Amino acid sequence: MSLQEEVEKIEKQFEVSPELLEILTNHFIKLADIGLNTQPGEHSLGLPMIPTYVTKIPNGREKGVFLAADLGGTNFRVCSVTLNGDSTFDLVQTKSKIPEDLLNGTAKELWSYLAKKIGKFVVEQHPDQCQRATNDDDHFKLGFTFSYPVNQTALNQGTLLRWTKGFNIQEVVGTDVVAELQKELDLGEIPVKVVALANDTVGTLLSHAYATGCSTNYVKQGDSVIGAIFGTGTNGCYLEPLENIGKLSDDYVSQLKEQDATHMVINTEWGSFDNELKYLPNTIYDENIDKVSPNPGYHMFEKRVSGLFLGEILRQILVELHGKGLIFGQYATYERLPHRLRTPFELDSEVLSHIEIDDSSHLKETELSLLQSLRLPTIEEERLAIQKIVRAISRRSAYLAAVPLAAILIKTKALDGYHKEVEIGVDGSVVEYYPGFRSMIRHALSLSPLTADGERKVHIQIAKDGSGIGAALCASTVV
Ligand code: BGC
Repeated sequence: MSLQEEVEKIEKQFEVSPELLEILTNHFIKLADIGLNTQPGEHSLGLPMIPTYVTKIPNGREKGVFLAADLGGTNFRVCSVTLNGDSTFDLVQTKSKIPEDLLNGTAKELWSYLAKKIGKFVVEQHPDQCQRATNDDDHFKLGFTFSYPVNQTALNQGTLLRWTKGFNIQEVVGTDVVAELQKELDLGEIPVKVVALANDTVGTLLSHAYATGCSTNYVKQGDSVIGAIFGTGTNGCYLEPLENIGKLSDDYVSQLKEQDATHMVINTEWGSFDNELKYLPNTIYDENIDKVSPNPGYHMFEKRVSGLFLGEILRQILVELHGKGLIFGQYATYERLPHRLRTPFELDSEVLSHIEIDDSSHLKETELSLLQSLRLPTIEEERLAIQKIVRAISRRSAYLAAVPLAAILIKTKALDGYHKEVEIGVDGSVVEYYPGFRSMIRHALSLSPLTADGERKVHIQIAKDGSGIGAALCASTVV
């Protein structure tokens, strides 16, 4: 087979047809309903659909100074957020790249690293208040954004179900992440109280609602607003009427209703959609990635969509094409290939984003990008092939990304009603920086059962720094 024929074969495997979009959307709705009615682990096929204990969405009038700590896939951020009460905020933050050895280290190392960073930040940013904070009441309130699947049991309580993305510290699984962080803060005599735990998607939804300041109407009308992340990982949350959340006890629901609550934000953990691969497209490259991941068999949707995996899919394909003698002929064997090309997860999705839109003559930009990132020299024919493959990988990712959005909008009947429009707040490196990602999502929405008519009524907006501000907003609800 020629290089061109082989590339066409690969492109075919990455296609997501409108028929498949429909099947996947319906399947998502079904698994979401199962998840709402079963406890974690009880029905392995249903989506996790984790209640977040957030029943109020901000309206833009919240005020005060709150801290937020945000442990994501790549960085740890500590922020001090001043909510001005008019949909605006001021943010001071420090950001540190999570050290590699922490990802596989001990629980103690993780929590003490986070506590120290928080301690250093409060001393630097709020020195006066630190001196005064002698009793619990003077402690700073902190919202903790923890972007991993947690079985949340209260606003400030939740046990880690499993790690995703790069982390793999087994001792943390099954422990209460708020209590563990608090323990280290107390040991370090850091005057901070962790009052709320929020998934990054919940933070994104809340900060988007705060910034747009229109959310109370949405809740009253039972409308749907989604918060979603398409970055290192992917996930989304939305508002579900309380009576549909079968996994909450009847007593608890009545209690919430007495307090005038009508909805609760549900963290879908859609990275785990269709773990059994009933309908998700599956290639040998996806299978290889799953095998070497710390959570084989889980987060199968995420492994096809999110930034952590896009580069690795491409790397797998390049190695395979080389093995077939179709590219990089200057390297006689696999062992001779540049070390970086042989290293799993070395190829960053940022490199793909450059190749995606390269329109320079002879694809010079691509040549440079591959040289810089992988130390890999290429000829034009190879670069043309690589660009096609990159575009197939990103298109599949964005088309699949449209599935949960379409499904949730349909399930919640969000677009029913005269001139009804909805807002989706999104955050994450892929949706923010990958060229064309949002328009590809939109295109897929129009091909999905939502139809072009529905797609026009959906607004996808970047909720910048959403997870940090959202965690501060969660903290602001605790009196
Ligand atoms: C985690 C989610 C998180 C998402 C986006 C996934 O790997 O399971 O909890 O929201 O990444 O950061």
